[in-house]
Amino acid sequence: MLAMDYRGPYRVRATQKAEPAIEHPNDAIVRVLRSCICGSDLHLYHGLVPDTRVGMTFGHEFVGEVVEVGSSVESLHKGDVVLVPFNIACGSCFFCRRELFGNCHNSNPQATAVGGIFGYSHTAGGYDGGQAEYVRVPFADVGPHKIPEGLSLDDAVLLTDVVPTGYQAAEMGEIQEGDVVVVFGAGPIGIMAARSAWLMGAGRVIVVDHVEYRLEFVRRYAQCEVVNFKEVDDMAEHIKKMTDWLGADVCIDAVGAEAAGNAIQHLTGVKLKMQAGAATVLHWCINCVRKGGTVSVVGVYGPTFNALPIGNAVNKGLTLRMNQASVKRHLPRLIEHVQAGRLDPSAIITHRVPLAEVADAYHIFSSKLDRCIKTVLIPPGAAH
Ligand SMILES: NC(=O)c1ccc[n+]([C@@H]2O[C@H](COP(=O)([O-])OP(=O)(O)OC[C@H]3O[C@@H](n4cnc5c(N)ncnc54)[C@H](O)[C@@H]3O)[C@@H](O)[C@H]2O)c1
Ligand SMILES: [Zn+2]
Ligand SMILES: [Zn+2]
Repeated sequence: MLAMDYRGPYRVRATQKAEPAIEHPNDAIVRVLRSCICGSDLHLYHGLVPDTRVGMTFGHEFVGEVVEVGSSVESLHKGDVVLVPFNIACGSCFFCRRELFGNCHNSNPQATAVGGIFGYSHTAGGYDGGQAEYVRVPFADVGPHKIPEGLSLDDAVLLTDVVPTGYQAAEMGEIQEGDVVVVFGAGPIGIMAARSAWLMGAGRVIVVDHVEYRLEFVRRYAQCEVVNFKEVDDMAEHIKKMTDWLGADVCIDAVGAEAAGNAIQHLTGVKLKMQAGAATVLHWCINCVRKGGTVSVVGVYGPTFNALPIGNAVNKGLTLRMNQASVKRHLPRLIEHVQAGRLDPSAIITHRVPLAEVADAYHIFSSKLDRCIKTVLIPPGAAH
């Protein structure tokens, strides 16, 4: 089959690989109809995630048709068309029972923190992902969700990660009616966090980035105010000025380890790897939020440590919330929002690329060329 293949930092290609087979009675094999490239894949592509092995196939956002099921699978049948959450979850461990599907204890042999994730290095279990014609889906009775009649494949593929993650970012912000919410990052996750903040009663939503075309898009799509941080000297002062000098009620980090905007953070976090990524946006969140406010982090950081202004967080009495999104928990509500027209996720798709051209697709998304926001990869034989 054709599959994306990691060769090392900034080098990926489409190549022929063996088709996956059932390895456990609760596995299913899914023929991929669409997959996406995510901002999280860029951390892998840039060589920043430990134990990303050459030969791995990335891709944790995919939908497809079930072509084979293991002998113990009860809820799926050949021919079902499913969306598959990016978290691989067993459904029965201590954490899954508490709906912390992103922290499953059985799907990742190194599960001190994160559970298994499709196509996300051996740090997240070493599973091959969905940027391929076929993918093996473990715990097939738990994750895959049949795509209901009337939900498009484009909307469905964005429900595997982007929409639930943006939604959970807003949810963890514990937004109260009328709150001022500042979202850092105008990528797909920040865009969905901004949209979701309104659903939770925000009174004002401000999105910060430095990529002008993304700010233009989010201003229209999420009806929010925008700030280009390249035009701002001191971020905390700027946000305070915008909020009667109190600060925001809620700050959301939808950027993570590769944040731009601070040369020392970039040097120590990205170039020299003295900390687990640039903590620029964590600093901005803690310093821009008002006393007693909430910081919600969905941006991804590495497993070691970051230098943070924790004293400020203590003295301001902040609530800090963070996690990988637990996709499965959000699906029923979010499918309803999409079906009712309150969310239209597929509007963020800017690029539709044949899987064979995956190398170009990564380059364009990584370098923010061609006004790229979200890229969908189409395997051979799947309809556009
Ligand atoms: N927690 C989860 O479950 C989860 C799921 C999906 C993605 N993520 C993470 O969310 C983050 C965003 O993902 P994405 O797909 O939107 O990525 P993306 O790369 O498309 O977008 C990130 C955006 O942040 C902007 N940015 C860079 N530095 C900034 C700064 N200092 N302030 C404000 N904006 C800045 C970039 O210009 C870019 O537009 C990534 O770290 C990704 O790994 C987390
Ligand atoms: Zn993703
Ligand atoms: Zn579990």
